[in-house]
Order: sequence, then structure tokens, then C-alpha cells
Amino acid sequence: MDFYPPKISELFSAPKNAGKAAQTNAVGTGASFVCGSFVRVYLEIDRETKEIRAARYKTNGCGFAIAAAESLTEKLGGRKLTALHGLNHAELLGEIERELGEFAPSRRHCAELCFDALQAALADFRAFQIEEFAGEKALICTCFGVSEETVQQKITENPAATVEAIGAICNAGAGCGSCQGLIQELIDIAEREN
Ligand code: FES
Repeated sequence: MDFYPPKISELFSAPKNAGKAAQTNAVGTGASFVCGSFVRVYLEIDRETKEIRAARYKTNGCGFAIAAAESLTEKLGGRKLTALHGLNHAELLGEIERELGEFAPSRRHCAELCFDALQAALADFRAFQIEEFAGEKALICTCFGVSEETVQQKITENPAATVEAIGAICNAGAGCGSCQGLIQELIDIAEREN
């Protein structure tokens, strides 16, 4: 009798995405104190379009961790950062479970490792954008490298725009969401000045 469910076994025995992405520009690691495993995610992100061109991983984890990392990295390729909904782990788990079947509660940490690694890789990409940013005005959205100047310009061009609408126009606020308060402040300032 197989130790792993069939779909887990299938991905774990013939991994396609193990290794590093050729042009990796974001790396993140998730580690578990429960079992001592880690998953490291390597992303190649298009700096202009913010689309994930390739996603790969390395892990010392069990078959569940390998299958979860395979499934996740396969689903990330070709996806825009805006489509990741600020990294909701429950949604990511849902996507993986639709392919691999439900993870028993005692195995969920294997998938969580992958999500933590992905989150860390995206934080790495944000740090890289901040370092690279050379504009004179502040960087409002570090997820997408959007400056205060750009957000102000989009608000001026679209006076009735909401935070969501500004996100749809220039991506600001459409990643982790932590800059949405700042965008709202800029909208409020523009309204007061008009
Ligand atoms: S900083 Fe994450 S969406 Fe703007």
C-alpha cells in the first residue's frame, strides 16, 4: 500500500519545478519547527509587467511538501502579482487542494511552508524595488514600485476614482494592500483641494 495518496505520489515522484528559476530575482524561505523542513521559493518576476515568468523551489521536506510546492509553483507561472489577492493562505490552500485533494490537519503545515516561502519571496521583491527606486517623491506602493507622484497624477486624471479604481489603473494598492490607507489619504487631500 502506498504511503501517500495517488496525486501526491505522482507529483512527488516526478517533480518538474525543483531547482532555481534561471533569472531568479526574488527568493523566500518558509521553515517548520514541527518537522524541521524548509521550502525555498525562487521567482523570476518581470519588472515591467509584474508577471511571474517562472517559479521554482527547493525543499528538504516530505512528499506532501514536495507535492504542495510543485502544485503552487506550477500555478504561479504566468500569474500577475495583482492576481495573488494579498496572499490569502486559505485561498492558496484551496487551489492546491482542488488539485491534490484535501490535506489532513496534521499535514497542512507542509503546504503552509510553501505559502510562507512565497510570501517571503514577494517581500524580497518589494525590498529590491525599494532599493532600486530613485524617484524624488516617496514610494507609496512597494509591492508594485508605484511612486506618490504617479498615484497623485492618476488621482488628478480620475477625480472620482476610489482606491480600488486607482489600483486597477496603476496597480498601486493591488498587492498586499498595506498602502491602501496612504492612497485613500491622497484621494482625500485631492478632494479637499478641489
Ligand atoms: S504596498 Fe502592497 S499593495 Fe501597495
